[in-house]
Amino acid sequence: MSLDDYKKAAALAALDYVEPGMIVGIGTGSTANHFIDALAKIKHKIDGTVASSEASAKRLKGHGIEVMDLNATGDLSLYVDGADESNRHLHLIKGGGGALTREKIVAGASKKFVCIADHTKKVDILGNFPLPIEVIPMARSFVARQVVKLGGNPVLRQGFTTDNGNLILDVHGLQIAEPAKLEAELNNIPGVVTNGIFAIRPADVLILGGPDGIETLT
Ligand code: 5RP
Repeated sequence: MSLDDYKKAAALAALDYVEPGMIVGIGTGSTANHFIDALAKIKHKIDGTVASSEASAKRLKGHGIEVMDLNATGDLSLYVDGADESNRHLHLIKGGGGALTREKIVAGASKKFVCIADHTKKVDILGNFPLPIEVIPMARSFVARQVVKLGGNPVLRQGFTTDNGNLILDVHGLQIAEPAKLEAELNNIPGVVTNGIFAIRPADVLILGGPDGIETLT
């Protein structure tokens, strides 16, 4: 079995959290794509979705699944998304696909956040995966200098613009011992839209696919 098979197994397991009449928040990335494909088979049961990226919206619409505006839906019952890393407290690093800001908005607006991933994403301490930060273009250098002062090594993601028209700094070399504290600290730098630590609003459930089957952490 490949890592992609494990991602798919986690995505299929997340279908158990979908209830009739729900509007489901949908994440971004290869694991979220497996969830979208699985959701297509039960699309008649749900009222619609809210997408965290243009890419996911396109895939959902391709399956004939309705994509709604978060401003019109109000809070959601369920958000399903992948992650780049998770610790045992279900604090995450997200944003490998660059959709972190919309992902954090939809996660924040959802009562339950079910995170789906392959087993390699579970770590003891966050930070081996470079931490993405979405920045307003004119603040790129300023934010990078502040991040260096915090001990990080920021690298501009080349040739990439977010769905919101901004840039991504990928920050290497951080050992994130206190995720919620660093999340707030980084978000306080002027020019930062948001960063990829999801600790202030962590996942509620983590479903990991792996060689021994599905592991669920809450
Ligand atoms: C996108 C994300 C993704 O959830 C994260 O990068 C994991 O991606 P994948 O499911 O492809 O491993 O945060 O912004």
